[in-house]
Amino acid sequence: MSRFDIAALTWDEKPMRVNIAKSVAENIKKHIPLNKDMKLLDFGCGTGLLTFFLIDKVGRAVGVDSSQGMCEVFLKKAKENNIDNVEVLNVDLEKQDIDQKFDVIVSSMALHHVKDTQNILKKFYSLLNDGGYIAIADLVKEDGTFHDDNEGVEHFGFDLEELKSLFEKVGFKDVQYDIAYTVVKERDGQNREYPIFLMVGRK
Ligand SMILES: C[S@@+](CC[C@H](N)C(=O)[O-])C[C@H]1O[C@@H](n2cnc3c(N)ncnc32)[C@H](O)[C@@H]1O
Repeated sequence: MSRFDIAALTWDEKPMRVNIAKSVAENIKKHIPLNKDMKLLDFGCGTGLLTFFLIDKVGRAVGVDSSQGMCEVFLKKAKENNIDNVEVLNVDLEKQDIDQKFDVIVSSMALHHVKDTQNILKKFYSLLNDGGYIAIADLVKEDGTFHDDNEGVEHFGFDLEELKSLFEKVGFKDVQYDIAYTVVKERDGQNREYPIFLMVGRK
């Protein structure tokens, strides 16, 4: 069992996670004209927090997560809420491929778990239909104090100009970013701010 399989059972109990997903979803709706003809992919969907905040704006959504435990919770929530236009794939997108195309790819707080950022961005590009949108949210560069345990954390956030260049290098156009939410955590007796960006682009 992976760390995320165990975390899945209580994932939604932390208000911080729900608040991040909610703010990221609101920000995505501001930047991308979502509509019912669109098929959406949520990379590293976890329990589907972001997917379920966006599901009524698109035609169909596919969550992808390498943790079986997360996928099980995702499915349970879809069933309990009678949401039938979603599916979840238990896939490690760094190692496996999906034989589908999407109109929009979203992701929240998953990119920092992927070692090779350029490679996964290339994969996102190949999974999008022409004109499709990408919207990735994650931590702005931090000093490694955001997580209580850095196991599985491949990047302490991202330098936004460097990431923007990488988006452009793999082919994304109209790349822009915004701060979608700021997490405040107590560290060494002081409140520390950890901004979360949303970077959007188009194929
Ligand atoms: C911090 S959680 C975020 C979950 C969810 N997006 C949220 O905001 O609540 C990161 C998720 O990314 C998934 N993940 C990490 N690497 C992955 C990969 N290569 N392929 C698919 N999922 C991955 C993990 O299993 C985990 O569920």
